[in-house]
Amino acid sequence: MKILPKLQIALDNTSLESALDSIRVVGEEIDVIEAGTILCVAEGMKAVKCLKALYPQKIVLADIKAADAGSLLAKMCYDSGADWMTVICCAPIATMEAALKEAKTRNCDVQIELYGDWTFEQAAEWREAGIEQVVYHRGRDAQAAGQGWGAEDIDKVKKLSDMGFKVTVTGGLVTEDLHLFKDIPVYTFIAGRSIRNAKDPKEAAREFKKVIAEYWG
Ligand code: 5RP
Ligand code: MG
Repeated sequence: MKILPKLQIALDNTSLESALDSIRVVGEEIDVIEAGTILCVAEGMKAVKCLKALYPQKIVLADIKAADAGSLLAKMCYDSGADWMTVICCAPIATMEAALKEAKTRNCDVQIELYGDWTFEQAAEWREAGIEQVVYHRGRDAQAAGQGWGAEDIDKVKKLSDMGFKVTVTGGLVTEDLHLFKDIPVYTFIAGRSIRNAKDPKEAAREFKKVIAEYWG
């Protein structure tokens, strides 16, 4: 049986009220619900608690991009109901290991967010430390500065996948981008603005699912 990439919505809303307005419309179409970095900064763990209470059957991700205090921050995320949390790629390996240790005692997981400078040597160390998930990210600001998806991105995603990572892809994704990754077993695609800000967000989420099924089904 073919495994389809999951669809994750990033709730980078600036208030919980607005995040709930977004998720209410599309929640049932989505596999993973992300309390985005922006939402976590605005509302803290209250947002994670609320999303898990409303969608207990869905995977909830706290995108806090932790850089330090891995154990404490992981406890906060998981005890608030997050199934997954993010650690930034420039964090020390000790922070990743500490977060992963908390995850494993609860059947949860850690994703390493790939931003800016990182190397495949570091990625090999993360694998060695037991990290299974990475998020290949085109930053919001990089996108706004005109950075598109290129062959270099596809090669890196492929290489990470070949290393055994479950690779998530994100960063201003629209459905027209998905075919670029069609030869790679992408674990999850994250879309934020292209679903939340669509005229019909439910239809936008369904379109993502349809295109995913077309290329990976
Ligand atoms: C930015 C993020 C966003 O959640 C991610 O980029 C998805 O949102 P969008 O599709 O709107 O770019 O983590 O740092
Ligand atoms: Mg995010």
